[in-house]
Amino acid sequence: MQQISKTDIINSLIIKNSYQTYLEIGLDRANNFRAVDIAHKESVDPAEGQYKHAKPTHRMTSDEFFNQIDSDLKWDIIFIDGLHHADQVYRDIQNALNHINKGGCVVCHDLSPTSYEMQLVPRQTSTWTGDCWKAWVQVRSERSDLYMITYDTDHGTGLITKSDGEGNPLDLKGFEIEYEPFSKNKKEWLNLVPLAEVSQHFPGAYLAKRYRRKKPAVWPLILGGLAFILAIAQLITLPESFIFAIVALISASALLALYGQEQKRFKQENFIDR
Ligand SMILES: C[S@@+](CC[C@H](N)C(=O)[O-])C[C@H]1O[C@@H](n2cnc3c(N)ncnc32)[C@H](O)[C@@H]1O
Repeated sequence: MQQISKTDIINSLIIKNSYQTYLEIGLDRANNFRAVDIAHKESVDPAEGQYKHAKPTHRMTSDEFFNQIDSDLKWDIIFIDGLHHADQVYRDIQNALNHINKGGCVVCHDLSPTSYEMQLVPRQTSTWTGDCWKAWVQVRSERSDLYMITYDTDHGTGLITKSDGEGNPLDLKGFEIEYEPFSKNKKEWLNLVPLAEVSQHFPGAYLAKRYRRKKPAVWPLILGGLAFILAIAQLITLPESFIFAIVALISASALLALYGQEQKRFKQENFIDR
């Protein structure tokens, strides 16, 4: 199965919606930021402590950033991957929603911890999501005007759009926002799309560029065709040495089958006909 990452989701959204402007909250080493393919991009990060290597466009916390910018300053897509504490992520989501263009979106990372320890604040494990999920679930339970979905990629990548019609608010059914009910109802609470189905949400032209290959390999077709012609020529001119023709025919079949596989793989990788 293809490994689809948060960066693939972001790039797919950019292609799908022809987005032009991108803001990333929480830059670190810019691994994701560098790979985001868009006309204009900016980042926000205080670049302190273990993250002092970060070189953001705006060196400050996300709260400081949103407090100082004009209310009409907007981006097409805002990616939230800063401080992984629920209260901070909640504020980042609210602020980001106030600063997206019409048709824009907010993407959040690390929404899907796979163990209790993995989401504890303060951090206790090397692989850590923090409790970002709590902010996500709280927003989903409060806002009926938003459509929210989480792709089950690397630790969960959530997408928020302002819906024109009905959103998909979450009914917590009396549960508190705590890990135990979350882990039992994770699929529903996050509106989680399994990894195997993620590509179906980005069909055809919407695929992440990383997976694009311009053409399927044609060499098996050419070699298979040649082997087939050789076999027929052999059978016509020297029918007594038919063993050679049979070998050539078997090779031709194998090469043509390989070409069929190559076509299939190409279509799958490019989400064609899906
Ligand atoms: C998980 S890393 C970001 C990873 C990066 N987005 C990537 O995908 O490569 C978290 C970053 O958030 C930054 N950060 C911490 N507190 C922050 C805050 N209050 N506002 C914005 N960024 C913050 C850290 O300095 C760190 O660089």
